Amino acid sequence: MRDIYGDVQEILVTKEQLAEKISELGVRITEDYGEDELIVVGVLKGAGVFMSDLIRHINGPIRTDYMVVSSYGSGTVTSGNVRIIKDMSFDVRDCDILLVEDIVDTGNTLSYLKNYLTVCGAKSVRICTLLDKPSRREKEITVDYRGFEVPDVFIVGYGIDYAERYRNLPYVASLKPEIYEG
Ligand code: IMP
Ligand code: MG
Repeated sequence: MRDIYGDVQEILVTKEQLAEKISELGVRITEDYGEDELIVVGVLKGAGVFMSDLIRHINGPIRTDYMVVSSYGSGTVTSGNVRIIKDMSFDVRDCDILLVEDIVDTGNTLSYLKNYLTVCGAKSVRICTLLDKPSRREKEITVDYRGFEVPDVFIVGYGIDYAERYRNLPYVASLKPEIYEG
């Protein structure tokens, strides 16, 4: 198969940094929710890798679910129109929800989902994101648990894609510009 490591411009967050931070986030979440059952909801596909590591650092009663929303298509710019492609598979009424996302960029996706789950009757909705690009924010949202702040560059790896590729890189990286500039 073709080597994808050669397409990487710069490693922004290493495997070791990811592991350490995710364990810290898990401890904080465990402490914050105490005895309460938590529903951890991953936003697919990007958050899939992060969520699978994160939940193994939460020591408490949780249920997991996934939602799928439309975001980028094959380009690198968000549309702002959020569409639910796969909804929750159980009733969220009176539940504490933790939304798990790969990157908060404009904030459109999570602002929409938080509002949606609140309207559906969730008792609380908090946000956990691996990466945050605060410089691009369009919607005011509270990030309750944040892994790393990243600069405004297009990012791939550890679940995050460019045109559905590079999710299997074991770290967070930027791509060589020629890859997405064509
Ligand atoms: P937002 O709605 O603009 O906050 O961004 C929503 C989604 O866009 C994120 O969940 C990511 O899936 C995707 N996204 C944002 N920035 C990047 C990036 O640098 N690389 C790949 N996907 C991104
Ligand atoms: Mg995403």
